[in-house]
Amino acid sequence: MDRFQIHGGRKLNGSVQISGAKNAALPAMAAALLTADPVVLQNIPRVRDIITMAKLLAHMRCRVESPDLPPSQFIIQAQNVSMHEAPYELVKTMRASILTLGPLVARFGHARVSLPGGCAIGARPVDLHIQALEALGAETKVEHGYVEARAKRLRGATFRFPKITVTGTENILTAAVLADGETILENAAMEPEVTDLAEMLIKMGAKIEGVGTSTLKIQGVKSLHGATHAIIPDRIEAGTFLVAGAITGGELLLTNSEPKHLGAVIETLRACGVEIKCEGNGNMRVRAAKKLVAHDVTTEEYPGFATDMQAQFMALATQAEGASKVRETIFENRYMHASEMMRMGANIEIDGNLAIVKGPTPLSGAPVTASDLRASAGLVLAALVADNTTIIDRVYHIDRGYERIEDKLVAVGADIQRLTSYDDQ
Ligand code: EPZ
Repeated sequence: MDRFQIHGGRKLNGSVQISGAKNAALPAMAAALLTADPVVLQNIPRVRDIITMAKLLAHMRCRVESPDLPPSQFIIQAQNVSMHEAPYELVKTMRASILTLGPLVARFGHARVSLPGGCAIGARPVDLHIQALEALGAETKVEHGYVEARAKRLRGATFRFPKITVTGTENILTAAVLADGETILENAAMEPEVTDLAEMLIKMGAKIEGVGTSTLKIQGVKSLHGATHAIIPDRIEAGTFLVAGAITGGELLLTNSEPKHLGAVIETLRACGVEIKCEGNGNMRVRAAKKLVAHDVTTEEYPGFATDMQAQFMALATQAEGASKVRETIFENRYMHASEMMRMGANIEIDGNLAIVKGPTPLSGAPVTASDLRASAGLVLAALVADNTTIIDRVYHIDRGYERIEDKLVAVGADIQRLTSYDDQ
C-alpha cells in the first residue's frame, strides 16, 4: 500500500492547475447510459473513482476508451448495453456506482445495483434514491444486498426529498429525463455538480427547468442523443489548494478554477485572515495570512460550507489563533482525521458533531493513517506545516479523488514523496 512521506515547513510558491470535478464527472459518465450515441466528456480528472466508473460501464458492455487509464477527453457509447447490473466488487470500492440505477431503469426498464452500505464517514443509506424511483413508478426490491428496480416506462411524478441528497437528486434527475410526462423534484440538491449534470442532459435533448434551484421541473422525452460536455473544475481540489497556500506561506496561483462555486470557502478563509484574489478566467491567487485567526464553521448543503472541505479547514484551524468551532451536520462520523491530527499535536476536542480546535499549535511529524478521501487531504495539509517527517498511510483514499496531488505539491515547492510498497522491499 502506498504512503506519503512529507517533510513539513516548506513555503509553497507557484501555480497549480485545478482538474475537472470528480463528483461532476461520475454522474456525467453514468448519464451516458441514457443514449445509444457517443457522449464526449472533457476535463475528466485522472483519479481512481473515474477508473472504477469506467470499468463499471465497460462491465455493462458500454464502449469506453481505455478504462484503465481514462484520457481527459473521454468517449462513452452505450449502444450495446447487455448487462444492467452494478456488481458488489465494483460498488464496494465506490458508492457512486449507485448513480447507474436511475439511467439503467429509465432506458432499459431494469437495473440491479449492489447496495453500497456504510463507509468511514457514516451510514449513508440510499433509501431516498429508492423512494423517489418508486414515486416514478418503478417496482423495487431490496434482496441479497442488491436493489433491483423495474419499470416498463417510468412516469413523471412530484417528489419532495425529505432530506437533501446530492447523488439522490442526480440519480432521479437522470431517470426522470426519459419518463413519461412531467416530474417535479422538490428540495433537490443545488450543488454545482447537479447543475453541471442538468446542463449536460439539456445538451443531450432533455427538458429541464429550474436548473441551479431546489425545484427541478423535468418534461420527459422519448429519447436522448449524444453530446459533448466539459466537466466543471473541482471546487474541493481548489479549496484544498487554497488552504495549502494559506497555511504554508508563499503565494499560489490556481488556474482553471471556478471561484463562483467556492463562495462559502473563500468567505471563511478571508474571515481567518487569508488573502484571496479572484482574477478572472478561472484564476485565483492565495497569499498566506500574516496571522491566521480562528473562525467558526458549520458544514451545510450548497451554497453553505461543504462537508468535503471540513477536514482541510480543521488543518488550517490548528494554525489559527483562538478557538474555532467546527460543526459537521451532513455526515455523522466525519472526524476520523481529528484524532490523527491530535497525534501530531493538535488541540481538538470532539463533542458529538462539534469539534473545538484551539490554536495555534505547532504540529510535529508522526506516522498517521488516512481513513477517507477528504481526511487524507486534511492530513496532507497538516503534514505540510508540521516539523520533521510525517508518513501518511493508506493514501489510496486520496488517489480516489485528487489527480497527482503529490506532483502538484512538489511543483510548488513541497517536500512530499510517494513511497510505494516496492520501496519497502
Ligand atoms: C455526495 O455524496 C458526494 N459524493 C460526497 O463527496 C459529499 O460529501 C456529499 O455528496 C455531500 O455533499 C458524490 O458526489 C459522488 P448525500 P452523497 O446523499 O450524494 C443522507 C467526497 O469526498 N442520505 O448528499 O452520497 C446521507 O446519509 C464525497 O468526494 C439519506 O439519509 O451524499 C447524508 O447524511 C464523500 N438517504 C446526507 O443525506 C439517502 O437516500 C447527505 O448525503 C441519501 C442520503
